[in-house]
Amino acid sequence: MVTETKIDLWFWHLDATVGDIARWRKHLASDELERMSRFMFSKDQERYTICKSRVRRILGWYLGISPRDVMFATTGRDKPVLADRAAGIAFNLTHTDRLACLAVTRGEAVGVDLERVREVKDDFIAYALNPDEHARVLSLDPDARRHAFFRYWTAKEAYLKATGTGLWQSLKTFDVEVPVISTLGELTRGALPRVDDPSERDRNWHLYTFQATPAHIGALALAPPTNAEIRICSRWISSQAWV
Ligand SMILES: CC(C)(COP(=O)(O)OP(=O)(O)OC[C@H]1O[C@@H](n2cnc3c(N)ncnc32)[C@H](O)[C@@H]1OP(=O)(O)O)[C@@H](O)C(=O)NCCC(=O)NCCS
Repeated sequence: MVTETKIDLWFWHLDATVGDIARWRKHLASDELERMSRFMFSKDQERYTICKSRVRRILGWYLGISPRDVMFATTGRDKPVLADRAAGIAFNLTHTDRLACLAVTRGEAVGVDLERVREVKDDFIAYALNPDEHARVLSLDPDARRHAFFRYWTAKEAYLKATGTGLWQSLKTFDVEVPVISTLGELTRGALPRVDDPSERDRNWHLYTFQATPAHIGALALAPPTNAEIRICSRWISSQAWV
């Protein structure tokens, strides 16, 4: 039987162009307020507050409860999940300088990563990628190489975030295949041709990369049921919405 797996990718900017930060802060739990207060600069406190507030607002919408009532738990390697597992909603968050993205789906492992495209040293490319991936990236001219590297890097991180192991697992225990170019907003399908971990190898992994803005590359990983039709919806939230 064909089922549908829908994934919502919610994007928002983290800069507080919305005035009174107290309106955002009221959604946060005490541990989040404590973590927020540890940032030295008020700009970082504001970005953190907006990020966590949006996450609560969005997840509260799926659950039909107020943002303040959303409860979190963590899995073995500190992946945040909803405490209410019976709700069957999986999510994953990524943020990089001024942009955030939350992936939300029903019941499936999901991981998402965003990176700002920037200069990377060849040593780091060699550290992060397997020989075939490395050779493909190094065959490109320097500008294309930067973009290609972040396609591989975000794809690898999205997979590790979907499994929940994060960067505790070596980036060399699996291979990814991703297109090195796509246009703004377009999602392109990648693949995981080799996964060493026997508990993950036989899952129906789907990998996508995308250019979120001219400066940001992202990737999404999920393991839906076999035969599922995948539907991915991107939604940008304006700075004023949903305070
Ligand atoms: C979790 C991890 C993959 C995040 O990568 P990143 O590019 O820095 O950050 P992103 O913005 O993409 O993701 C951050 C979010 O991922 C989520 N996250 C945290 N741990 C996670 C895990 N194990 N799996 C999936 N998601 C996780 C959280 O929501 C986090 O948001 P928060 O920091 O606001 O709480 C990475 O930091 C990690 O694996 N850390 C643990 C291992 C480690 O520190 N190793 C050090 C040697 S490299």
